[in-house]
Amino acid sequence: ALVSMRQLLDHAAEFSYGLPAFNVNNLEQMRAIMEAADKVNAPVIVQASAGARKYAGAPFLRHLILAAVEEFPHIPVVMHQDHGTSPDVCQRSIQLGFSSVMMDGSLKSDGKTPADYAYNVDVTRTVVNFAHACGVSVEGEIGCLGSLETGMAGEEDGVGAEGVLDHSQLLTDPEEAAQFVKDTGVDALAIAIGTSHGAYKFTKKPTGDVLRIDRIKEIHARIPNTHLVMHGSSSVPQEWLAIINEFGGDLGETYGVPVEEIVEGIKHGVRKVNIDTDLRLASTGAIRRFMAQNPKEFDPRKYLAASTVAMRDIVIARYEAFGAAGMA
Ligand code: G3H
Ligand code: 13P
Ligand code: NA
Ligand code: ZN
Repeated sequence: ALVSMRQLLDHAAEFSYGLPAFNVNNLEQMRAIMEAADKVNAPVIVQASAGARKYAGAPFLRHLILAAVEEFPHIPVVMHQDHGTSPDVCQRSIQLGFSSVMMDGSLKSDGKTPADYAYNVDVTRTVVNFAHACGVSVEGEIGCLGSLETGMAGEEDGVGAEGVLDHSQLLTDPEEAAQFVKDTGVDALAIAIGTSHGAYKFTKKPTGDVLRIDRIKEIHARIPNTHLVMHGSSSVPQEWLAIINEFGGDLGETYGVPVEEIVEGIKHGVRKVNIDTDLRLASTGAIRRFMAQNPKEFDPRKYLAASTVAMRDIVIARYEAFGAAGMA
């Protein structure tokens, strides 16, 4: 059944687990997520970015997700709009049937320029007002995502602030987070605690403590009833990087957020964990390898099936690690 995000995250908080939220753009990602959720009996959050809506078209995405609900009626599914850049964008998604929206007012409507607090409150409160009237949950964001190592937002295109940010912008201030929740009434809050979007998060192999767990604790203590969201949570599996590079790819050395650190974050109030890059890497690696090993094959279903299996295994691993298996 299609459910709101609030319903799933309240359950996650009650039973102290975290839910991965996967970005979807196509059939194979959707199938991989549902097959995994079905296998381990986990609830599903799938989210569509502006890039996804541009690629597949909002109606195709909507029907893709509704098809999943139809085929897997026993699995609760949240249809979430990721990184909305304005109240208009969120309103359109609600009209299309999304059960949850993110109003990312940490950035201006260009999705690049860091916005001030008053702007963020204004646009987010507007969305909360009309979304809650329709039973739709709202995720807001306070603080700008970016690497504490480089100050860069991470994504070269797409979502994220442009240019180099200073340290104070890269970490959510607990006092400001509490005030923001009071001023807006959001159900879930994305916080900046050391992660960034995309594959290039860290240039050196993390030796523990890439996440600011201390900061998560401080924020959670002030707003215990608001579900914390961690964007940029891909772990950048080294085995898939190696496979991509072995079969003709050319990705540089890079590291993501270790799964154990995400699990530590979940212990301290993180409930929604956004993952996109890991499925992209697994999918690309599986397709590259399949093509190289099966040079006579030209049926796209064959290499796409290989990509679905690769993505499904990552989804299963995250459900299990985050404690969401068995919770559907
Ligand atoms: O938040 C960023 C997600 O990874 C979506 O990326 O804009 O390329 O679809 P995208
Ligand atoms: P990754 O790029 O780390 O997968 O993060 C995705 C994300 O935060 C989507 O909103
Ligand atoms: Na989101
Ligand atoms: Zn994000």
